Amino acid sequence: HGSAHIEDIAFSFEGPFGTYDQAQLQRGLKVYAEVCRACHGLRYVPIRTLAEPGGLGYSEDEVRAWAADNFEVFDAELDDFRAALPRDNFPAVSGEGMGPDLSLMAKARAGFHGPAGTGLAQLFKGMGGAEYIAAFLTGFTGEEQEVAGQYLYENTAFDGGWVSMPPQLEDGLIEYDDGTEATADQMARDVAAFLMWTAEPKMMARKQAGFVGVIILVVLASLLYLTNKKLWAPHK
Ligand code: HEM
Repeated sequence: HGSAHIEDIAFSFEGPFGTYDQAQLQRGLKVYAEVCRACHGLRYVPIRTLAEPGGLGYSEDEVRAWAADNFEVFDAELDDFRAALPRDNFPAVSGEGMGPDLSLMAKARAGFHGPAGTGLAQLFKGMGGAEYIAAFLTGFTGEEQEVAGQYLYENTAFDGGWVSMPPQLEDGLIEYDDGTEATADQMARDVAAFLMWTAEPKMMARKQAGFVGVIILVVLASLLYLTNKKLWAPHK
């Protein structure tokens, strides 16, 4: 993944104090559930986490109803399918023509490189996994070709330029509940943000803990400085 140029996007979750945009995550879930899930699983994501703080902010009752409405899972104990429960994970999806699991995709791809492999772009702009996903979803040129019986679609973000995933997003494909206009660009960003959350659901807690850690170290450093002054004062 080194050829394509990926545009930086100012996602709300970036930077030391960045937080997920709850409305955006909810829209992203809708894109996933109405479009991507046909070919992509989220097998490492427990459905109950949709109610966790710092994320989509749904209530437990909303999540229970949503799970039952959207997924059926095979229950080994019942030896039958049943409506999904919050304790189930999102289903895995596999088979002919299906795509890779998306649970960790935002961390498996990098959007920025260099200059010259130094990692400086990544230091300043982040890894760019979400940017890559958004660029990939909107990077189709419309060109396609058949190679050995398989259709390939030209995509400017995809390494190698030709991908077996058909273009998915077009303006107005779905309808958002919050009134946001569902342009292809908007849907790409929203689902990219949602996939950042599936890959790192505890990002808010991590940043908060890091900030508290820095404060504690600053306090400790000041106390040590004062202690040192006091101890050596008589000898100066
Ligand atoms: C690959 C996202 C919908 C089929 C991928 C990749 C991503 C992705 C990030 C990996 C690209 C890479 O390897 O760098 C999405 C999203 C979707 C969506 C966010 C919804 C908006 C679909 C649908 C299908 C599909 C509906 C099936 C009709 C595939 C396939 C691949 C793929 C077959 C593997 C492509 C290859 O490696 O040649 N998708 N996808 N995707 N997707 Fe999707």
